[in-house]
Amino acid sequence: MKIVLLGYMASGKTTVGKVLSKKLFLPFIDLDKYIAKREQASIAEIFNEKGEIYFRKKEHQYLKELLASDSKFVLSLGGGTPCYAGNMDIITSNNDTISIYLEANIPTIIERLHHGKEKRPLVARLTNDKLTEYVAKHLFERRNFYQKAKHKVIVTNKSISTVVTEIRILLH
Ligand code: S3P
Repeated sequence: MKIVLLGYMASGKTTVGKVLSKKLFLPFIDLDKYIAKREQASIAEIFNEKGEIYFRKKEHQYLKELLASDSKFVLSLGGGTPCYAGNMDIITSNNDTISIYLEANIPTIIERLHHGKEKRPLVARLTNDKLTEYVAKHLFERRNFYQKAKHKVIVTNKSISTVVTEIRILLH
């Protein structure tokens, strides 16, 4: 079984994915880390040096590669992965794959994005005022893609262990 976690930036995909993978005795893969390793560059470097279109092509290529493998894993996507190149259709049509949308509300996302903004090229240069406006608009555009996931778990005001428990219940 492949478990794919998706959602907006800072919704907790990586943190939840790591804990979930341990509980399920499955390997954990973070798509951004996988891309960075394969490309031998950080995500910020790829965006700055090769541009977002190149990043989206590679993101699509590595996602397809992972989903086509026989391996079992917990995979956390980047916030934009579901919204490009038909990626969500590939995920939902893959037989052994279960997708889960981690839904965080806007204040939670903003609060979490304030820390570590610089690692995220799309928001790195935004002032705090602009960040709220950007996230509200961006999330509105992306939500339809996220909603295609097989399951949704609300993460706002919940601990990591509660979210992990809720996911494990869904998987039964
Ligand atoms: C992106 C989110 C990032 C990373 C890249 C683009 C996006 O991942 O893939 O900076 O388009 O939302 P996180 O969701 O882990 O921050």
